[in-house]
Parts: sequence; structure tokens; C-alpha cells
Amino acid sequence: MSTAPPNGEMAAPTAATQIVLEARDVVMRFGGLTAVNGVDLVVHEGEIVGLIGPNGAGKTTFFNCLTGMYKPTSGRVMLRGRNLPPRPGRVVRAGMARTFQNIRLFANMTALENVMVGRYCRTKAGPVTSILRGPTYRREERESRERAQELLEFVGLGRKAEHLARNLPYGEQRKLEIARALATDPVVLLLDEPTAGMNPIETEQTMNLIFRIREMGLAVVVIEHDMRFIFQLCDRVTCLVRGETLTEGTPGEVQSDPRVIEAYIGGGDDDEISHDELTDEDREVLRAGGELRPEDDVERTR
Ligand SMILES: Nc1ncnc2c1ncn2[C@@H]1O[C@H](COP(=O)(O)OP(=O)(O)O)[C@@H](O)[C@H]1O
Ligand SMILES: [Mg+2]
Repeated sequence: MSTAPPNGEMAAPTAATQIVLEARDVVMRFGGLTAVNGVDLVVHEGEIVGLIGPNGAGKTTFFNCLTGMYKPTSGRVMLRGRNLPPRPGRVVRAGMARTFQNIRLFANMTALENVMVGRYCRTKAGPVTSILRGPTYRREERESRERAQELLEFVGLGRKAEHLARNLPYGEQRKLEIARALATDPVVLLLDEPTAGMNPIETEQTMNLIFRIREMGLAVVVIEHDMRFIFQLCDRVTCLVRGETLTEGTPGEVQSDPRVIEAYIGGGDDDEISHDELTDEDREVLRAGGELRPEDDVERTR
């Protein structure tokens, strides 16, 4: 990769690095549809791993299996060597946090309150203590508030603390989701299309934000369609197609794999993915690699 990560002193992850997240042979069926079919994923400490693939490839479903939103039909998920139960609350407490492809914030709460919600899984005060408002509650409440403010500043929303989530522009809502996920003190952060709907400046800020999250010692798994973003950001990339791993490797390896290009531009008989789902930047990256011929640029008529 030509652009060195800002965190130059960090060694590239090797086999000797500790495995943080490990998913083995994950299968998820919905009735007759197999959305995820035997997918493995290994993420090391401090690694940024990209998950790409055309729409419907099973990326979000795989995230849902990792985070306990779905109970996989088969397979297992381990965090720091321990099996994770398919229960979202337990998964968060074990150290895995996520953001959603479709933003899920509390629209009528402030930015600060949304981040404080993320803290609750780490505070001792249960509902009863909260009602009685004892000293533990008050101390934790104050600490939560301070930590939430720090996290808002970390993602660049320090001055938006009192704004209602629903009044924030879309790109800021995505950043707020990241702050809320970080508030749970995760060791692994999963981001589902973090730059969807962002302008190029926000996308660049998000890339830098993810590098800074890695510097904090977290591992990150990121689903994204913007290939330039993925290839600049990630240490390794896995490409899913129709629920299966098509290929996995360094950005250079995956970028030059003709099957990846094929999957995106919908070669073969599957018309589900057409050229107009490629962004201009995707086209540029593909063209730079000599993989997209000028005639491929002509939009298909459906
Ligand atoms: N809850 C569900 N019930 C039934 N089918 C689902 C469900 N969630 C996802 N699918 C199907 O699984 C496949 C993979 O979807 P998804 O994981 O959202 O893909 P991606 O995130 O890669 O675009 C799609 O065919 C989708 O329609
Ligand atoms: Mg998805």
C-alpha cells in the first residue's frame, strides 16, 4: 500500500499477533435461503479488516451472526478465545460493539445522551439504584457524562453534545453511532457501511477516525462499498459473494483478483448487480487497475 497508516510504529499484524475475533464456518439460513454459507473470519489485535461484496452477499447477515443479533444456523464465534453466546447484550459486554447500516439512534435524545446509553452496559447501577439515585448512581452518572463528552470530541462532535440526534446531518449521525459504540469499551468494533451517505470530506475524516480507533488498541471490521476507502484503510480484505468467501488477502491481492471485479460488475447470468451500483470512485479504481474497459462504463438499461 502506498499510503502508510499514520500509526507508523505499529507493526503489521502477523500470525504471532493475538487473535481477537474468530468466526468459524458460520452458516445462516432463512428458510430456503442460505445468506451466509461457511464463512470464516479471523481478526488480530490492532487489525483493520474489510468486508466487501455486492449487495445481498450476506455481509450484514454475517455481522448479525457475529454480534448475536442472529443465532447462526451453525458455526461458532469466539472473542478473545471464548465462545460468544448469540445474545446481543452479552456480546457487547464481552467486548464487541457495532454500528448499523441503517442508523439506529434515539432520535429524540441529545447526542450526549445517545453516547451515555452506550455506557450503561459498563455501569454497576442497575435500574433500582437508578430509581433511588444513590451515591453509586450519581458518581457513575457523572463519569458516564464525562466519558461521553470525551468520545463526542474524539469523533469530532464535541460541540454537538446538546443537539438532538434527529437534527444532526446524516454524516454526523454516523459519527455519533461510532461514539456510542466506543462508549461500551469494546475490543472489536464492527462498522456496517460507515461512510454511506457521507461527502468526500466526511469520508476522509472517517478513515482517519478509524485509524485513530486502531491506535487506541481496537481491532476494526468494516463493511463498505467504497473500494478506494476499503483498500486504503484495511490491512486485509475478505470478499463475500452469495454468502461465501470468494477471496481473502491484502488489499493489493484482493484488488487485483479478477473474480472480485467480476462479482461487482455482475458477469455471468446474475443481473442483480449492475454497473450503475458502482460509484464513480469504484470505476476510477477499477479503470486504474485496467479492469474496467471504457465500454463497460455505459450504463446498462434494465
Ligand atoms: N432477516 C432476514 N430474513 C430473510 N432473509 C434475509 C434476512 N436478512 C437478510 N436476508 C437475505 O440474506 C441475503 C443477504 O443479505 P444481507 O446480509 O443484507 O446482504 P449485504 O449486507 O451483503 O448486502 C439477502 O438475500 C437478504 O435478502
Ligand atoms: Mg448490508
